[in-house]
Parts: sequence; C-alpha cells; structure tokens
Amino acid sequence: MFIMHVALQGCLCAGAVEYGITADTGGHIRYLMQLADASAADPQIDRIDIVTRAFSADFTSVDYQAPCEHRSAKIRVVRLATPNPGYLAKEALWPELPAFTRALNDYIAGLERAPDVVHAHYADAAEVAAGVKAEHGIGFVFTAHSLGRVKRRHQPAAAGADSTPALDRRIAYEERALREADLVLASSRDEAEIQYADYAAYEPGRIRILAPGIDVSPFAEGAIGSQVDAMLGRFLSEPDKPALLAIARPVSRKNLGALIRAYGESPALQARANLVLLAGHRDRIDDLEAELAANLREILALIDRYDLYGKIAYPKQHVEADVPGVYAWARARQGMFVNPAFNEPFGLTLLEAAAAGLPVIATDSGGPNDIIERCGNGLLINPAEPSAITEAALDLLDDPERWQRYSAAGKAAVTSYDWHEHARRYHELLGRLANDTPSVRIARSRALLVSDIDGTLTGCALGIDSFNGWLAREAGVTFGVATGRSFHSAMAVLEASDIAAPRFLITSVGAEIHYLAEDGVTYRRDRRWHRQIDRHWHRERIARALEGLPGLVLQGALEQKTHKISYLVADTPATLEAVRLRLHTAGLACSVIHSHGRYLDVLPAAASKGAAVEYLRQRLGLAPTQVMVAGDSGNDIDMLATSACPIIVANYRDDLAGQPGLSRAYRAGRPHAWGVIEGVRHFQERRQP
Ligand code: GLC
Ligand code: MG
Repeated sequence: MFIMHVALQGCLCAGAVEYGITADTGGHIRYLMQLADASAADPQIDRIDIVTRAFSADFTSVDYQAPCEHRSAKIRVVRLATPNPGYLAKEALWPELPAFTRALNDYIAGLERAPDVVHAHYADAAEVAAGVKAEHGIGFVFTAHSLGRVKRRHQPAAAGADSTPALDRRIAYEERALREADLVLASSRDEAEIQYADYAAYEPGRIRILAPGIDVSPFAEGAIGSQVDAMLGRFLSEPDKPALLAIARPVSRKNLGALIRAYGESPALQARANLVLLAGHRDRIDDLEAELAANLREILALIDRYDLYGKIAYPKQHVEADVPGVYAWARARQGMFVNPAFNEPFGLTLLEAAAAGLPVIATDSGGPNDIIERCGNGLLINPAEPSAITEAALDLLDDPERWQRYSAAGKAAVTSYDWHEHARRYHELLGRLANDTPSVRIARSRALLVSDIDGTLTGCALGIDSFNGWLAREAGVTFGVATGRSFHSAMAVLEASDIAAPRFLITSVGAEIHYLAEDGVTYRRDRRWHRQIDRHWHRERIARALEGLPGLVLQGALEQKTHKISYLVADTPATLEAVRLRLHTAGLACSVIHSHGRYLDVLPAAASKGAAVEYLRQRLGLAPTQVMVAGDSGNDIDMLATSACPIIVANYRDDLAGQPGLSRAYRAGRPHAWGVIEGVRHFQERRQP
C-alpha cells in the first residue's frame, strides 16, 4: 500500500524535528513522524510520501525548499512550491491552498503509481485532500489534531479580534473536511463524541478512535534519585507517608485548586497522606503569564488558609529528567496520581503514572475515560465535586489489595499504547477503505441476531473466540448489537474484546441506530429514527425536573446524548419512585430505565433497545421470528420482552428470569457468548424441525 500524508503547518523535515522553531512546529509533527516510522515497519506498506509546502527560511540551517528528502527507505518528505516563497504561519496559509492543490494533483499525475489513500493532517490539508479526491478519486483520511470550535470555546473573550476571521475560516475548513473525508481519526472519546459533535457535518460512525502510541519506558524504569528526595523532602514533616501526586501546568482548566481544597477540607486525608504538586516552573510568580500567576497565587493562598505546611510539597523548579523519579517516589509510598482537570483532552500523564505503577484518580471529562477503561488503573471522579476526590483517595488508601490491582493493571495495559499496534489497526482500516469491499446487505439476511455487549457477549474470551468462529460460518445470520454504551464506547469495547464487527449498532440504550456503510469501515446514523424519537422529547425540561433529586447524580458528559440523559442512582425503589413522580407531575412522558442497580437512563418514550429492534425489523421487512435478541440485565428487559426469540444468558442479573414478561424467553444453560450461540441454535432448530 502507498500512503500519502499531507501536512502544511510548521516546519517538516526528514531529520530531527526542530520543535518550537515556529509556533506551529509542535506535537502534530512528532505524531506524524512516529506514525510514518511505525507504518513503514509493516511489510504491507511499500511507500509513504509526506507532502508539505516548500518555503525559504532564514531562521534555520535546514533546507525547507528541497523538493525531496528521504527519511528512510520507504519514507520521503516531498515539498511543493506555491506562489508565496516564504514561511507562513497556519493562519496565513489559506491563500496558497488552491495552488498547492494544483501542484499536488500534477505531482500525483506524474507518479508511476497513485497513492492508495491520502491522509490529511489539520483541516487546511483536508482542503487539499478534497481537491485530490475530486481530481483523482483517491479517498482521504482526516486527523484534525485540534479543533477550531474547541479553541473558540476556550478562548478568552479578550483575545485579539483579528483572530476571529482566521478561526471562522478554520472552522469552515473543518466542516468541509468532516463532510468529505472517508474516515476521520480521533485520539479519544472526548474528541470523537463531544468535540466533533458541535459540527454540522458530525457523523459519529465516520470517526474512529486510534489512541496515539507513547513511549513510556522512562517512566516504567524511573528510579528515585537523591535529588527527588531532597526536592520533596524539605517540604514534608512526614515524607514517608503515601502521597497524592499532581503534575500539571497551573492553568485554570487543570483545576488544581480543587485538589488542594479537597485535601484541606479533610483532616482524615491529611492524616493519611501528603500532597505533592509539580505545577510547572517559576522563578518569580509576577513574571508569569497572567493565568498562571493567578492560579499559583490561589494555590499559595489555599495552602495558607488550610495551614497545610509540612503536608504539601510544591517545588518551584524541577528538571524534566526528575519526573519519572517523582512518579516512582509516589509509587514507593503507595500513593496515587490525581488529575482533577475540568477537561483533559487526552491524558498523557495518566499513561506515565500507569507505566510507573501508580494508580490514578482522574477527571471523568475527556480522555481519562478511555485510559481508565483500557488500563483499569484507577477511578474517575467528577471534577466539579472536590469531595469526590477525597472519597476516592480515602477508599484507595484503605484498600491495599485494590491499590496493587490498579498498579499492576496499569503497568501491563499501558504497553498497548504502542505505535505498532496503532499502525496495525490503522492499516487494517485503510486496507478496507482502499479495497472498497462492498458489505453484504442486511436486508437479504434470513435472520438477525441483536445482542447486548457487556455481560452478554463479553465476560469470557474463549466464548468470544467461539462466537466469532460460529458467526463466520452462519452466513444466514446478520449480527448487530444493542447496548447502553455510546457508539464510540461500544466500538472500543468490541475492538478491545476482539468481537467481530457488527453490521449495525443500536447504541445509547436505543437512542441511536448506526449501519455499516458500503465501504465496510464507517457507519451511518439512521436519521429517520432520530427524527421519529425526537417527537415529544423535552430534554431540558426533563433535566430540570430531576435536578437536585437526592440520590441521583448525573453521569459524565460523555454519557449524555441528545436523546439520553443518564444518572447514577442509589439502589432504592424510593428514588425510582421519586423520579417517576417528578416526571409525571411535570407532565413529561419518557422511558425510565434502571439497570445494574446503579444506572438510570431517561429516554424519549418512543426509544428503547426494544423499540429500536422493532423499528429495524419493520424497516428490513423481517418476520418477528427472524429476529433474535440476547441480553443479561435490566436495560435489556424491554427488548427481550417484545421479541419473539429472546435469549437470556446464564449469568443474567437484575432478576431477569423473574420478570413477568420474560417467562417465554430461552434461558441459556451457558454464560456470556456461549449462551448467545446456544440460544440462536435453539431458535434455529425450532424454526426448521
Ligand atoms: C452504559 C452507558 C450508561 C448507561 C448504562 C445503562 O454503561 O454508558 O450511560 O447508563 O449503560 O444503560
Ligand atoms: Mg449487559
């Protein structure tokens, strides 16, 4: 396969990246080079061109005009000239895009062999890739790296007025990129489900999450040097106590004040642990940027207010090389890493902590969701509630067994954030896109199997192996899932558990339906279903009616969808009654679904897993006996009860077998995926005696 990357921002060269030489020469170039290197290691890939703009630069000795440089046998950096010969910052690149697109189209026309796929980095490159697609019909992948709408949301109102047209233009390019790209790659669920969701062309099924690879070996091997002891020890009266460690620049988004407040308010936590804060470098606070200075002043004031002297270390300076030793120092004391940020786009420090074997307590907003799900190395907390940090920390300090489990799990799982694994999945997706394997139409199948994921398909790796093998042989059965998870959360668990790719996904407890597209890679949302369930749905009013109800806590932002409001709930019938009563009093009709003794989902009255399955059955013109459903818990009840062929796996919970509507269901003797196969066989035999 021949992959062509297009990246226009900053200074790209075949040799060592000149980080920081211009404002745009940063992380995305490192990402691109590491991706290309890992990609080239795969024998399936025979050529990689990284195409960028040529410019003359007197600020460096590297020749950024050279038309071609080789990085390795397979990788070359290709530079194409445009009318403006000078270096241009990202905001000033746009006038050159048409000329660059023409130059690239000519370059491709002159190649012996066209690339199989183009990969655009940032939306200006996507603009070019869209022009290549129009001319040569080559599909393209888009990685945004960061998004204009997110920047706008976080940009202080006072920021320069002249940045607005540039940002508007960038957002318009991003919209087009999202519309035209064949596949969009994101690094986290936050990016895929929240950041992109603000765009008109948002289509979750066209986005895939591929976490970047990370070299955490320095953290895995970190040794506690005497300089670390000295740096931290001088602050602490009992330096050998466990430590809560936070490492973050003191920007407001990082919410470090909440951590100090949580600690300051809890004598119990102070008695059990110290607090260690590596909050960037400072010489004189007054010389720092305003935001950093303001946050540091707040931190110092809080330390004083709660009189935390002797209990908290907050060194002025540290060298990068000491950081692995600081993680190791906290691990040696059975401490934990805390990230209380209001939002953390990816969460690199959590991976560093994982590599060091240090359990984490992290914000439930942003990338940490994915990390903790994949690494099993800690707990998520709501960053708006400092007391949640205290509770989580005390629980963990009192549970050495769990501490060990998190420590070991993190160390083991973090190795999967690896560029080679990234490249493997990346090439698999590209291969499917480039081959255009037409997917078999669902409508022609003789039977549908709609299965819940958690607990039903998952739970036993051997069962999943058998399930995949069995499914591959069952040509007449089309497999889909129905889950409480969002689309990206479902894809993540399916991929992590190696479950065969479903033809369709009913996600967010029936609030959304997605179908595998003809390209065999991306998924399309069912917009008719979306419109249909939207009738009589009053999201704001429902949220308001339930606000402040004791025993009810909103789940994280990632779990909230247009047609799904989700809470965590204490397992008391009284709370459920109170919810129903409040909704009834407010005259709001909706489905209220309780499961696993702790989840509560509120959905439009017309939406549920069962309603979505029934809609799909009718849309595909199948008879009731052609649709089998399988589940294990409360949020499966309605789909099991309304199905002609319901399967309950042996490991069921939420008293499924005792439900009045489920007495006809087939109760498998075997658990998890084995039970699903058993159930399908049962119904197949019944159909053809
Ligand atoms: C999944 C979802 C959650 C929902 C639960 C029960 O865990 O992520 O939001 O409440 O399923 O349906
Ligand atoms: Mg389940």
